[in-house]
Amino acid sequence: MNTPKRYTVTAALPYTNGPIHIGHLAGVYVPADIYARYLRLTGKDVAYICGSDEHGVAIPMRAKKEGVSPQDIIDKYHGIIKQSFADFGISFDNYSRTSSKIHHETASEFFTKMYNDGGFIEEVSAQLYDAEANQFLADRFVVGTCPKCNFEESYGDQCENCGTSHNATDLINPKSAITGNIPTVKETKHWFLPLDKHEAFLREWVLEGHKKDWKPNVYGQVKSWVEDGLRPRAVTRDLDWGIPVPVEGAEGKVLYVWFDAPIGYISSTKEWAEREGKNWEDYWKKDDTKLVHFIGKDNIVFHCIIFPSMLKAHGDYILPENVPANEFLNLEGNKLSTSKNWAVWLHEYLEEFPNQQDVLRYTLTANAPETKDNDFTWKDFQTKNNSELVAIFGNFINRVVVLTNKYYTGIIPTPNNFTEVDEDVLAAVKEFPNIIAKSIERYRFREASQELMNLARLGNKYLADEEPWKVIKVDEERVKTIMFVALQISSALAILSEPFLPFTSKKLKGILNIDKNLSWEAISEKDVLVSEKHQINKAELLFSKIEDKTIEAQIAKLEATKIANEQENKVVEPQKDTIDFEDFTKLDIRIGTILEAEKVAKTKKLLKLKVDVGIDVRTIVSGIAESFSPEDIIGQQVSVLVNLAPRKIRGVESQGMILMTDTPDGKLAFVEPEKKVKNGQEVS
Ligand code: 2FM
Ligand code: ZN
Repeated sequence: MNTPKRYTVTAALPYTNGPIHIGHLAGVYVPADIYARYLRLTGKDVAYICGSDEHGVAIPMRAKKEGVSPQDIIDKYHGIIKQSFADFGISFDNYSRTSSKIHHETASEFFTKMYNDGGFIEEVSAQLYDAEANQFLADRFVVGTCPKCNFEESYGDQCENCGTSHNATDLINPKSAITGNIPTVKETKHWFLPLDKHEAFLREWVLEGHKKDWKPNVYGQVKSWVEDGLRPRAVTRDLDWGIPVPVEGAEGKVLYVWFDAPIGYISSTKEWAEREGKNWEDYWKKDDTKLVHFIGKDNIVFHCIIFPSMLKAHGDYILPENVPANEFLNLEGNKLSTSKNWAVWLHEYLEEFPNQQDVLRYTLTANAPETKDNDFTWKDFQTKNNSELVAIFGNFINRVVVLTNKYYTGIIPTPNNFTEVDEDVLAAVKEFPNIIAKSIERYRFREASQELMNLARLGNKYLADEEPWKVIKVDEERVKTIMFVALQISSALAILSEPFLPFTSKKLKGILNIDKNLSWEAISEKDVLVSEKHQINKAELLFSKIEDKTIEAQIAKLEATKIANEQENKVVEPQKDTIDFEDFTKLDIRIGTILEAEKVAKTKKLLKLKVDVGIDVRTIVSGIAESFSPEDIIGQQVSVLVNLAPRKIRGVESQGMILMTDTPDGKLAFVEPEKKVKNGQEVS
């Protein structure tokens, strides 16, 4: 397209069935925020739009699990999500919610216009039904085998494994997610979006029109789906949570969440425009507006096939220019999961790492899953902070600011003649806005963040080569020039870092006392960003080192989650064969006290114990050495099966057995009396 007049930048509306985690941030919100901030900095007219996605089956399901109403759930998570985004510096122009009146109206009008224009097929068909739950089964209410990739846990509307979207009736071996029953079928009326009729448009628009500018992962998926053949998709549901279908004869039915959610971008824009005195239609209906959707890869089908078909069928709207979907981020080698609590939650990070938003932003950008799935590790987070933000960016700025204050009481000195090195460095600085902009405009945020760090590297190298701290002893005039050049680099960093490290940029502008409105272009256009005689402020640390113990605490937190999950998933062994009471009474279990303990030589697991069981003091060999050290269990009361026939273990005769149980962390624990009792006390 020709140079756009304005930009509508959308970030996927998060579901309000859980808080935001680093996967959401890396996939969608951080790249979208960098893009929107960059556009604003370069003087563009931008609407950066988001909001909460509050319909769909996941909400009532979560509500049921927590024993509260769906409204309670959406209010709770909308609040947490909105606040954590704001605290993290995500600079949405508007953050709305799909339960709002304006959204219900906008979505209903959209549906009605398409309905009146004959944009749907109305059809009574047999749909999956759970008679016990008295509920039609669509979306997350039903799981089964994906007809495309054979993944056995596919949902009714989309397979999480291959991303394909399908109708619930396409699932092989469907099962109700509510009762586990095999569904029956029941007839019901629905409205279908005839995707097959939009195939020619999709081929021309995406397959021919965006072959070169869309990311290969996005283009490839769309191509494969279109070439597999598109079929009508139901856009209504038999549910009581959602936007009522606004036509006669549709009582008790709501819009499919993926029909209403993307319209949420439009209603959120309306809300913003009303507040800001703008015309929302300019941002959605004018050809000179560039619309860009930031999403995760599981949303590609909805943003590249279904929503564009809706926009096209409606007729009044522009289409997205690009949909730079990211792949997924994993955490310490495992898939992020809200239900398994396998995540770094944004609201917790903000509490545990106060004023360190930029560290997470930087780590997630430098390691963004742009072309393939990537892994977040706490160790890498620490390295990115300590070896890049602290050691390169922070160190350079600190040296410049400290020396300027030390040598010139913070007043920028008048430079003398520039050497060739100075000229080269100043010329190189002028290139950075273009280099970084090119990467951002191609949605390569990783690359862009590394270019920013290269500018800090350039500054560090310049200081290291020119050594003002040494030269000051022999040539004070030369140092004035060196510091002048270093201050120009620092100012460029303050401006160019804004999209990536907004908190740091603000702080640095404060330290350098520079014009907050210095633009991105100014760096290339102006010879001097901060002039001689300009007063800067005292040094403040931009970043601080993250210690090993902080990282270890986070890793331990994840370990605890893993153990809790394992415990929850642990299969309870089936009951053994029934025994008679007489059989039970044959067992003689007594409380005893361990008097002595030592390792059995050449074994890993065995301890030889002397136990006072009240009747006598006896030797027992027990496989507990991996859970206890001998010295720690002297005096421990234990339950002992005393009439077990003696047997030789590793040459030692064992005269009984200590009763043990497993603990969640895979160790053993004694079955012991809550209060100390007399040795020989019977357990029955
Ligand atoms: O996948 C998700 O989290 C969806 N809630 C995204 C919706 S994006 C848009 F269409 F609203
Ligand atoms: Zn699949």
